[in-house]
Amino acid sequence: MRRAGKITAAARAMAGKMVTAGVTTREIDRAVKSFIESQGAVPTFLGYNGYPASVCISVNEELIHGIPGKRVLRDGDVVSIDVGATKDGFVGDCAATFIVGNGTEAARKLVEVTRQSFFEGIKYAREGYRVSDISHAVQQFVEANGFSVCREYVGHGVGAKMHEEPEVPNYGPAGHGPRLVRGMTIAVEPMVNMGAAAIRVLDDGWTVVTQDGKPAAHYENTILITDGDPEILTVSEEYL
Ligand code: MF3
Ligand code: CO
Repeated sequence: MRRAGKITAAARAMAGKMVTAGVTTREIDRAVKSFIESQGAVPTFLGYNGYPASVCISVNEELIHGIPGKRVLRDGDVVSIDVGATKDGFVGDCAATFIVGNGTEAARKLVEVTRQSFFEGIKYAREGYRVSDISHAVQQFVEANGFSVCREYVGHGVGAKMHEEPEVPNYGPAGHGPRLVRGMTIAVEPMVNMGAAAIRVLDDGWTVVTQDGKPAAHYENTILITDGDPEILTVSEEYL
């Protein structure tokens, strides 16, 4: 899981550096696929339930599962990169949102609150707490900052498969769900809308967009529950 996590995090960082005006989302997808394969790993998303690419790239009002293509990134775009890599039978899964250029102040706040909500959540990613303690902390932090969390998509256990039990929602009351035990690996992934929480799926069958058309952001790491602080597995020294 550590090896898979490092490769996945490096892929995310590499993609993030490519988030510049004039690049196409397909170019990012190709570069990430090559990088993952160069590490002796497999892009987990490619072919997953028929998904046609190695990365999800979701721009502006797109929250998650945007399909890379001929779209050209422009100054101010809010670009979420979600990537998975399978190495020696284990999966890393992580995401982050990047802005092309400086972006608006509101966009910068959205990105920072989304990232910080992950860290608020994992304060409870410790033995003895329950899954929904994480969920509740994420929701509280996001809503205290005036944004909203998506209900339809959730974080998840991750291991030999990308999606395992338990579900890790970004909302709900504390004190529910399975108790966290050392050795569990889970993907905690706040999906945050600047406006209302409502989403819909585009006709391509994948792209999830906000109904109000306002921007959205995503931040995710694969983490390990230990007997102390959680260990973030999707970290990469080379790129971060
Ligand atoms: N990374 C996403 C998740 O966190 C899954 C991507 S969907 C896929 O669950 F089809 F692209 F793989
Ligand atoms: Co995930």
